[in-house]
Amino acid sequence: MFYRGRRLRRNSTIRSMLQETKLYKSDLILPIFVCEGENIFQEITSLKGHYHYSIDNLYKIVDQMKKAGILSCILFGIVEHKDACGSEAYNDNGIIQQAIRKIKELNNDIYVIADVCMCEYTDHGHCGILDDDGNVNNDETLKYLSKIALSYAKAGVDMVAPSDMMDGHILALRNILDENGFTNLPIMGYSAKFASAYYGPFREAAHSTPSFGDRQSYQMDYHNGQEALREVEADINEGADIIMVKPAMAYLDIIKEVNLNYNMPLCAYQVSGEYAMLVSAVDQGLMNESVIMESLIAIKRAGAQLIITYFALDVAKELNS
Ligand code: PBG
Ligand code: ZN
Repeated sequence: MFYRGRRLRRNSTIRSMLQETKLYKSDLILPIFVCEGENIFQEITSLKGHYHYSIDNLYKIVDQMKKAGILSCILFGIVEHKDACGSEAYNDNGIIQQAIRKIKELNNDIYVIADVCMCEYTDHGHCGILDDDGNVNNDETLKYLSKIALSYAKAGVDMVAPSDMMDGHILALRNILDENGFTNLPIMGYSAKFASAYYGPFREAAHSTPSFGDRQSYQMDYHNGQEALREVEADINEGADIIMVKPAMAYLDIIKEVNLNYNMPLCAYQVSGEYAMLVSAVDQGLMNESVIMESLIAIKRAGAQLIITYFALDVAKELNS
C-alpha cells in the first residue's frame, strides 16, 4: 500500500516548497474610486472598506498602498456633470486626469491604470453613444473612447484598460495613441467581459447603473465560452498587450481556456459582487476569512497572472512578497 503524497504533506516547509501556485503582491491591482469635490472620504455602502476619495484625500489610499506593498491601481471616476457623450471623461482637467497626475506626484512608483468607458459619464449610464432608437452606436462610440484614452495618456497614465466592449476598440485606441506619440503605452483589453449580476455593487459605487435597458447588447452572454475565445482573439489581433476575463470566480473555466490557448499576459477581475459576497459571508460568520485567499489562489491557479481585486490591501498583509 502506498500513501501517495501524504509524507510530503506532513511538514509545512516542504508543503510550502511544493506549492504549485503562489500569490505575490505584484500580482494584485487595487481598484480606486475618485470623486469630485473636496475633503471627501466616504465609505461606499455597497463595498464595505472601500471609499470615494476626492483628489485632496488620495494621499490616504496611496499611503496605504505603499505600506502594504501594493504598487498598482485601476481608477474609476464619479462625476456630477453627465451628458449624452460623456464629455467629462475626455476633459483634460477631468477627475481621472487629475487623479492620475496627483497619484504620480504623490508616489511615482505607483503604476496607474485607467479604466476607459463611458457609463460613469453618460446621463443614460450606457457604455457608449446612443442612436435615436436607444441602441449603442459602436463606431461613433469608438471616436469618444479614443478621445478619452488620449486624454488619460496626456495626463500621464501608465496603462489604459477599455471596458466598453465595443468591436474594434483596441485598434481604435492603439491608432490614436500611436498617432500622438504614445507608442509605448500599453492597452489591457477587458476582452471577455460578461453581462453579469456580479457588477451590482460597483454600479452603486460608480453611479453607473443604466437608466433604461441593460448591457446585454455589448457585454457577453454567460452561456457562451467559445465566444469568449473569439473576443480574446480579436483583442489580441488588434494589438492588446494584456487580455482580461471578468468576472473571475464564476468564470474560472474561461480563464483556464484562455490561458491554455493564448500565450499572452492574462488578467482576471474579481469584481465587486464577488467581494461583497465573500465579505458578507465572513462578516456573518458563515465562512472563515481564509476563503478570501482561497478565492484568489483559485483565480491564479486557473491561469490569471494578474488579478484586479478589492481585497488587494487586505491580502497583502498575509503575503511576504
Ligand atoms: C465599466 C465597468 C464596470 C466594471 C468595471 N468597469 C461595470 C459594468 O460594466 O457595468 C465592474 C467592476 C466591478 O463590478 O467591480 N464598464
Ligand atoms: Zn461601461
